[in-house]
Amino acid sequence: MKEENFYMLAKTMYGLEEILADELRTLGAQNVKIQNRAVSFKGDTGFMYKANLNLRTCLRILKPIATFQAHNEKELLEKITKIDWSKFLDVNMTFSTSATTNSEVFTHSKYASLLVKDGIADFFRNKYDKRPNVDPKNADLTVDLHIAKHTCTLSLDSSGYSLHKRGYKSNTVVAPMNEVLAAGLILLSGWNQVSDFHDPMCGSGTILIEAALIANNIPVNIFREKFGFDSWKDYDEELFELIRDSSLNKEKEYKGKITGGDNFQKAVRMTRENIENALMFENIKVKNEDFFETKISPNTFVLFNPPYGERIELGMNEFYEKVGNSLKNNYQDCDVWLISSDIENLKMIGLKPNKKIKVMNGKLECSFRKFEVYQGSKKASKNKY
Ligand SMILES: C[S@@+](CC[C@H](N)C(=O)[O-])C[C@H]1O[C@@H](n2cnc3c(N)ncnc32)[C@H](O)[C@@H]1O
Repeated sequence: MKEENFYMLAKTMYGLEEILADELRTLGAQNVKIQNRAVSFKGDTGFMYKANLNLRTCLRILKPIATFQAHNEKELLEKITKIDWSKFLDVNMTFSTSATTNSEVFTHSKYASLLVKDGIADFFRNKYDKRPNVDPKNADLTVDLHIAKHTCTLSLDSSGYSLHKRGYKSNTVVAPMNEVLAAGLILLSGWNQVSDFHDPMCGSGTILIEAALIANNIPVNIFREKFGFDSWKDYDEELFELIRDSSLNKEKEYKGKITGGDNFQKAVRMTRENIENALMFENIKVKNEDFFETKISPNTFVLFNPPYGERIELGMNEFYEKVGNSLKNNYQDCDVWLISSDIENLKMIGLKPNKKIKVMNGKLECSFRKFEVYQGSKKASKNKY
């Protein structure tokens, strides 16, 4: 019998919702709807595996299992205890809980999460006189509670730990970019995935590796050792392997060059290590070089995030002024995108941005800006990418 499609919620960062919805539609999701920092959709178990493996701009995928109203803690606990948790957990399995609340009654998410834990433990104690243990770090099942006013939704977290942990990063320098944000920026920029790509301040190489995975259409989470669903009671390993193989078969050939630079030798070493972990050593080349002294070939697509003030000897405004001068002199006929939270000093670049997009990097509000750096008429450089 064919399994019914069910609702799921893919969580993401502010500003990446449309991109995630596009990714979901391309993968074949049904009923795709944009929410606040999330996208809801429908699919079956196989699709849930496929989405976890392939989505580049998703932090986690939740599978709702119960929705009910609760007006106080007692009612919430009772309703959690009434759910048949033996469908999802055995007493010898481990679990963890999480919660987010947007309610005048339930104001503390940690306390709400504790109630979920108590409710599950009570269910097992009442029925089996024994209860499964809690493992906050490496649980077999993570149960998430979301409360909006009085509406409570319990979901299973099919991803386990966050999907930005791709499995290719063994080392990072100061302020590495979140992988989900890096992939989101590349997709938001509209890079045609044909032209050469360059990150002149590559740090630990996140943007370069995400770009290579996108250009070659490699399932972004192929290097992960674990997902949440693979310790669920209904895990279908054969189906997962089938989905993994068919996702890998969609690899495409990218003929461009992906290059990076950083003036910090240690960063270049770490980037190389991470590139090797992602099996991309043939595809990405990095050099220890100074942005201010490097000339870039015309028609290269450039995307980077400058430092946030650490290790800069100049003042921030002088730094951005110098960045602007280097772009004008050494990046001619290139489309350059950069992200920064330093919105005031960004003006010192002295080039008019062709596009500005607001995104969040953790709690920092950032501006992601495009500069078309060209010689001669705008017309001549149009439609390059
Ligand atoms: C915010 S970090 C980039 C993080 C990176 N996107 C990642 O995911 O790890 C900024 C990087 O710019 C580098 N940097 C600063 N000034 C530079 C310069 N003049 N030339 C090249 N790299 C520079 C720093 O060494 C640092 O690694």
